[in-house]
Amino acid sequence: MSPETMSVFSPKLAARFDALVEKYPLRRSALVPMLLYAQDEVGYLSDAVIAEVAERIGINENDVRSVASYYSMLRFKPAGKFNVQVCTNISCMLRGGYDIFDKFSEELGVGHKGVTTDGVFSLEEVECIGACCWAPAIQVNYDFHDDLTPENVPGILAHYRKQVQDKEKDA
Ligand code: FES
Repeated sequence: MSPETMSVFSPKLAARFDALVEKYPLRRSALVPMLLYAQDEVGYLSDAVIAEVAERIGINENDVRSVASYYSMLRFKPAGKFNVQVCTNISCMLRGGYDIFDKFSEELGVGHKGVTTDGVFSLEEVECIGACCWAPAIQVNYDFHDDLTPENVPGILAHYRKQVQDKEKDA
């Protein structure tokens, strides 16, 4: 397969990947950034995405899967429009991380790795997201929210629901 002629990615992203793999002394060093860009465009790491990334780098698909499975921000199934990642690692756990997770779970009606029926939110429990000093912390797509209590949860969800409603109004 020629990635240029049968790519699962847009021409713009395919060109970006062509440039990216040439930037590193070892092509496989481009793997994680490629997976992040691919996920941003496609929504998740589908079999087709993994196959093409493997081919572009010149490694096998199992290597791609094994690296991707290490990173909590990479996913193999579609997520909601807003993916809520609740840290329950040590600092956050000691400061109520599980209470935060439970409140999100209750409000959204889904558990770990669940997606709401409207597809707006998904929820997952994750390892440290690097915001330990402000625990407990969560990440929604690329936004951080920290120093949380369960009382903050409805407001956070309302903030993102409003974004969806505003977008629908503009459409
Ligand atoms: S332990 Fe939660 S951000 Fe580090």
